[in-house]
Amino acid sequence: MRHWVTIYIWEFVRGTGLIIVYKWVFIAVFLKYLKAVVRAAASSGGPRPPYTTLAVSQPQQFVTHVELHRPEKLNAMSRAFWREMVELFSELAGNPDCRVVVFSGAGKMFTAGIDLMDMASDVLQPVGEDTARISWNLRKKIAEYQETFSVIERCPKPVVVAVHGACIGGGVDLITACDIRLCTQDAWFQVKVSRCRRGGFMGGASRNARGRRCLVNELALTARKMFADEAASSGLVSRVFADKEAMMAGAMELAGEIAGRSPVGVQGTKVNLLYSRDHSVAEGLDYMASWNMSMLQTEDLMKSAQAALEKKSPKTVAFSKL
Ligand SMILES: *[C@@H]1O[C@H](CO)[C@@H](O)[C@H](O)[C@H]1NC(C)=O
Repeated sequence: MRHWVTIYIWEFVRGTGLIIVYKWVFIAVFLKYLKAVVRAAASSGGPRPPYTTLAVSQPQQFVTHVELHRPEKLNAMSRAFWREMVELFSELAGNPDCRVVVFSGAGKMFTAGIDLMDMASDVLQPVGEDTARISWNLRKKIAEYQETFSVIERCPKPVVVAVHGACIGGGVDLITACDIRLCTQDAWFQVKVSRCRRGGFMGGASRNARGRRCLVNELALTARKMFADEAASSGLVSRVFADKEAMMAGAMELAGEIAGRSPVGVQGTKVNLLYSRDHSVAEGLDYMASWNMSMLQTEDLMKSAQAALEKKSPKTVAFSKL
């Protein structure tokens, strides 16, 4: 530093100092500008009211991008987040301009999980005059938290989640409620059921348990990290990308494919996939038959068939809003 100062003074003395100072100021300003441009391209510009933890944008027609946006807190899930998720997904469920949701995290990682500092007052110091009343209130709170992820499932629009970096605790519960999961090569997942006793009540474990019970048990009981390759081979994610940029491009492409299809078909498929997950084969078929008897009467079916006959992509068909 001292060395540079000496040079500056020397340059000033020689009369060229100002030019050098300007050059450095210019480079600093340019770098700052560049950083802002990169940041703007990488995220959707931060939360806007009424949201404080979620940045919502529409990068292409019928595609909604929801970004978990508390980068300075490693996207930890605060009380505001739980509330806003319910509000946002209830809105998206009925919004005809949204046919598919891409969900990702801003900043260094997807999420560090529950914001313990923010939630402590809710869960660790529940209110009530006696054990029964404390329990009653706590149960209500827990049900509210479960609701945060249930709204993702209940929203008939498919949700594509894109995970980079760490996805810890409540983050795993969140992504298991999504329909399609993608991650980057540097992503890792960690269930914290055994380390934190309150943990695991958000339903991730029960949602995932149907599949690989043995692996789920191991992850839950040891709270070890699971890296991208294992996440892919075990089916937790369907695709792994080299970096976040490639993943977001992939997620948007996937979302574009879904958004271009008949919303009657896509949303009916999500509803029925979830139904059959929780019911027997016979019940699933019966439910779908009842579903189909009305939904197959859609004009979308003829439109899609026509496009297929003409060897056109369904994206070229204008389906009515739903
Ligand atoms: C319902 O309709 C879909 C779409 O045509 C079809 O793939 C499915 O087999 C039908 N299921 C039943 C049970 O009718």
